Amino acid sequence: NSDPAPFNEYEFPLDSTWEIPRHQLVLGDTLGEGAFGRVVMAEALGIEGHGKSTIVAVKMVKEGHTDADMACLVREMEVMKMIGKHKNIINLLGCCSQDGPLYVIVEYAPYGNLKDFLKANKMCQLPDDLRCGDEKDQKVLTQKDLISFAYQVARGMEYLASRRCIHRDLAARNVLVSDDYVMKIADFGLARDIQDTDYYRKNTNGRLPIKWMAPESLQDKFYDTKSDVWSFGVLLWEIMTFGDQPYPKVTAEELYGYLLEGNRMEKPYRCSLNIYLLMRQCWNFDADARPRFSEIVENLDKILTSTA
Ligand code: ADE
Repeated sequence: NSDPAPFNEYEFPLDSTWEIPRHQLVLGDTLGEGAFGRVVMAEALGIEGHGKSTIVAVKMVKEGHTDADMACLVREMEVMKMIGKHKNIINLLGCCSQDGPLYVIVEYAPYGNLKDFLKANKMCQLPDDLRCGDEKDQKVLTQKDLISFAYQVARGMEYLASRRCIHRDLAARNVLVSDDYVMKIADFGLARDIQDTDYYRKNTNGRLPIKWMAPESLQDKFYDTKSDVWSFGVLLWEIMTFGDQPYPKVTAEELYGYLLEGNRMEKPYRCSLNIYLLMRQCWNFDADARPRFSEIVENLDKILTSTA
């Protein structure tokens, strides 16, 4: 058979634990696009319960993808199957892998990514009389809300670390905001495994997430859970600044030297000292001196309990 069959480009073994009949999925708008992949919103029938409809997100490769792109998507799905479920990660719901394009079905987060969510809420921090109409509908985020966001991300990372998963691109843009402001870590399945340390993953724009990288990742391309802890510190700073750009005046070339000299970002406006101290611990040049995610969870839990 010489005819190219676009719907049977690849064949995958059937995994009946996860396989969902294709006709139960109605694809909708595109939520996001990368160089090789696309995420589409969809309605899934009967995947939660009989006769029930659920809004989901569906990951797929775009036209013009390479075999390597497809391999990445398959790997991401397999990693998600192995890692298992947690409230604070984007969970796998199922897949369509037979008789057509590969669809990886994951939880949909209605409020989008945390960076844009925080930026949209930054205006709400203004006094009432300075805010304009459409900002008034949004929930005003308190310091306690912000700390709760950080706590939830730390819980998700504690779980991923316990499953030996290194994220390598932990940043507010890779955290999604679900119903009831539940934080969910996304794209963790793209992470390489612990052995594979010389692979240098670029983000969806093909750019390295320099400003979130630990010194040892910048210098030696070395990643482990401790370098994720450094990135968590930058993410904590993003939360406390409502999505500001880290180190705006430092270039990518300057960053390593800047950090080596001991420079760090200042305490954000209104950020409490205990939260700032936590960031600074995450930004210890010595990776072994950084707190573990379990310690970060404990610490944030205490701070949360003592915050009005
Ligand atoms: N954009 C990319 N993935 C998404 C998801 N799971 N939910 C909402 N928006 C997304």
